[in-house]
Formats: sequence, structure tokens, C-alpha cells
Amino acid sequence: APITAPDISTCVPSSSGFDPENTVRTKACCPPATSKPIKKIEFPNDRATRIRPAAHTVSKEYIVKYKSAIEAMRCLPDDHRHSFVSQAKIHCAYCNGGYVTQVASGFPKIELQIHNAWLFFPFHRWYLYFYERILGKLINDPTFALPYWNWDNPAGMTLPEFFEEDGKANPAFDAYRDCNHRPPATVDLNYAGNDISVHSCGQQISTNMIAMYRQMVTNAGDPLSFFGGKYSAGDDAGDPSVGSIEAGCHAAVHRWVSNPRMPNNEDMGNFYSAGYDPVFYVHHANVDRMWKLWKEMGIKGHIEPPEPDWLNASYVFYNENIELVRVYNKDCVQLEKLKYNYQVVPIPWKYSRP
Ligand code: C2O
Repeated sequence: APITAPDISTCVPSSSGFDPENTVRTKACCPPATSKPIKKIEFPNDRATRIRPAAHTVSKEYIVKYKSAIEAMRCLPDDHRHSFVSQAKIHCAYCNGGYVTQVASGFPKIELQIHNAWLFFPFHRWYLYFYERILGKLINDPTFALPYWNWDNPAGMTLPEFFEEDGKANPAFDAYRDCNHRPPATVDLNYAGNDISVHSCGQQISTNMIAMYRQMVTNAGDPLSFFGGKYSAGDDAGDPSVGSIEAGCHAAVHRWVSNPRMPNNEDMGNFYSAGYDPVFYVHHANVDRMWKLWKEMGIKGHIEPPEPDWLNASYVFYNENIELVRVYNKDCVQLEKLKYNYQVVPIPWKYSRP
């Protein structure tokens, strides 16, 4: 049977995946409950499709708008369902044992984990979908789209400038980052905790291109290699088979941004704290874009998992109208229905077959 996630009233404080004695973010990650019934997803009838721009290409005006949306979110009281903290907690609850049980799936003793297997792409797609719509609502802009960090393109391989401190209390800044990886440092898509100083920037770019080709083509020829292994109700999260992108550039960028001197690699280096860094959502927009690009390569085998346990797996989120909504993997496959898409930029790694 598919994962039916979760019954939020069963949520407990998070306890796994970090040192509980040494946290800088809260472990109490459960979302506020609601007495209203869970709604079914209604697809948006927005007139315009939101086009997520590549972060290194955005205009000054766009940056002002993006920052004002993040600022508005930070200004909400923490217990508001749309607050910056509530949005960050979603990740912590789903990924650090907040749902210690798969109660809703009929397995009351098994922890739910949406990483390390085939729920990774669809869960994060839905997470960003609501996050983006909430930000748009906060600034009254129904066309608002998140930027994506285009780290697979040489022009986008540094942390986007608008995340930097700018002397004016930038709402997109986060104190828990690796200060050695600020611009103009080139991101390392194979990063595993060590800076390889022999690399010139040019070498780093070609190593990154090769990593992308490997994760998008060579090692991603069928649904389970790309999405991750099967994960159904009753399966133990301790037995993972991670998809090529999740294990590769996705994890590398998380680590590369995070502060290695923090006890749990806060913020980006741990599931429980990652959502507190605005970079998280901009990083994940590009991860989500990889799903779209992989599909569009037109290679046989580049399809979503056909198994009903993938198609019918579900999650719940608070939408932009503060209604709790249940959403299914099968409903996030077509971006047209979700009314967002990605700005088209060159994809140089397509030609980086090693
Ligand atoms: Cu839910 Cu990038 O992790």
C-alpha cells in the first residue's frame, strides 16, 4: 500500500538525525492541528503560469519583491501556519522522526521518512508549491515565482548574491552558513566536507558538468535510479536506496552551504534545520527542475514510477488559504496543472559525457 502521510495529530517532537542536546533550532516541529476536515487538492485556476527565474539572472526589482515576500513571512507570529518557522518545521517533522509512526498507513510503529527513496522528488515539489503560493499571497502577487539556484550552469555556480548580508538586515540572509563558501566561491557538486584546494575554478566547473551528466543520464536510466527505491507503507526508512540526484548534487549543495562548525551542520546540513535557510527553497527549486529536465530528455526509461504505491502516496500541507490539503504524487507530475514552470537557460552538461 502507498504511504499515506500523515495524521498530523500523531506528530511528536523530532528526535532523530541530530544531537538533541545541541540544537539551535526547535525540535518541536509539529504543525498546529485543525478541526476542519482535510481537503482534496483543487488545481489552481491562476490566469498566468508562474515562471521560476534562474537566480543569477533576476532583476533588481525581482530581488526586492522576493525579499519583501520572505520578510513578510518572517514577520508572521511563529505559530501562524504560514510563518517562516512553520514552513521550516514542515521539513523537520517529515524528516526527523516527527511522524514516528506511519499510523495513517496502518503501521503504527514505523517512522516516516520522505528522503532516501522515491518520495523525495514529489514531496519536495509539493512543499515548494505551497511555499511559493503562500509567499505570493503575502505580497499580494498571484504571479510570484520562486527563483531557482542554477548550480548546474557555470553562470550560476556561486551562491546567488541576494542571499548575502547587505548591511540592511537582509531577510534572505542566514547566519548559519559556511563563510568560506560565499561568493565568488564555485560550488562543488561532489562536495563531501572537504575543499579540494588544488581545483581551479575552471577545473571545478568541468568536474561539476561531469557530475551532472552522470546523475542525469549515465546513472539515471530508469525510474528507480533517478527517483530512488520503492518505499511503501510498512517499509523501514533505515533501508534506503537513494536516487542519483538526491544522493549526488542535492546532498552536496546542502553540505556545501551549511556551517561545518555547527554541532548539527546547521542550517542546510541537517533535515531538522535546513528549512530555516531561505537558500533551501531556492536550491530545491533547481532540484525540482532536474525532474522536469530529466523527463524532457526524451530517453526511454525517463518516466515516473508507474507503481500505484508511488502514484497514490500522499502528504498534507496547509495551503495559501490555511486549509489542510491532502496531495498525491500522481497529481504533481504535470507542471501545467500546478501552474508553474522554469525559465529556460542553456544546459551545458548535456554535452559532458565523460
Ligand atoms: Cu528534504 Cu534537500 O532535503
